[in-house]
Amino acid sequence: MKLFLDTASVAEIRTMWETGILDGVTTNPSLVAKEGRRFEEVLREICDLGVPSVSAEVVATTADAMVAEGRHLRGLHPAIYVKVPMTPAGLRATKVLAAEGTRVNMTLVFSATQALLAAKVGAAYVSPFIGRLDDQSQVGMDLIRDIVQIYRNYRFPTQVLVASVRHPIHVLEAAKVGADIATMPFGVMEKLAQHPLTDLGLARFLKDWEKVPKG
Ligand code: E4P
Repeated sequence: MKLFLDTASVAEIRTMWETGILDGVTTNPSLVAKEGRRFEEVLREICDLGVPSVSAEVVATTADAMVAEGRHLRGLHPAIYVKVPMTPAGLRATKVLAAEGTRVNMTLVFSATQALLAAKVGAAYVSPFIGRLDDQSQVGMDLIRDIVQIYRNYRFPTQVLVASVRHPIHVLEAAKVGADIATMPFGVMEKLAQHPLTDLGLARFLKDWEKVPKG
């Protein structure tokens, strides 16, 4: 399973990239706005770290404009995946971009039928937002289970990228149901490595080590 960071903070990405556990990055217009920096400058810095998959979202809303923006984003760096929203225009744009060899991440997916359509038009990734579904009293992980099953039934190559992840249990459950990727905030990725018994155990080992005769 691949682990992506859902952020536009180059500092956060660099920190996780250095640990060796990071497989990719997803950004969106809200995350980019939080950084207060120019989008393309941020994208170049992320790509220059060597991150192999970096999702950059179009903000156009018509199919033709999405295709033009997608081509531009793809041309910035070979690691770029173009994020396109799940709308009728987005489906048309994805069909064109995918046919040209651009890897598209279809975003803002909230139903299994939307995910089926994303696969049919050739999206490389589908991004169901599970935290936002949980917020609406709908179990987001049930959607992941459905999409994984549908893609397996028909051997669609589209990868399931679990998005809007809020806590480590989302990552654990996504791994158990066989999702390909989970993208998460920095704080959630940090928590994947933490356990109080690890910290206590290490403190005890170091304290006992002081009693070992040296020299
Ligand atoms: C995914 O690509 C999105 O950027 C993201 O996961 C949305 O998460 P949110 O619901 O926490 O904004």
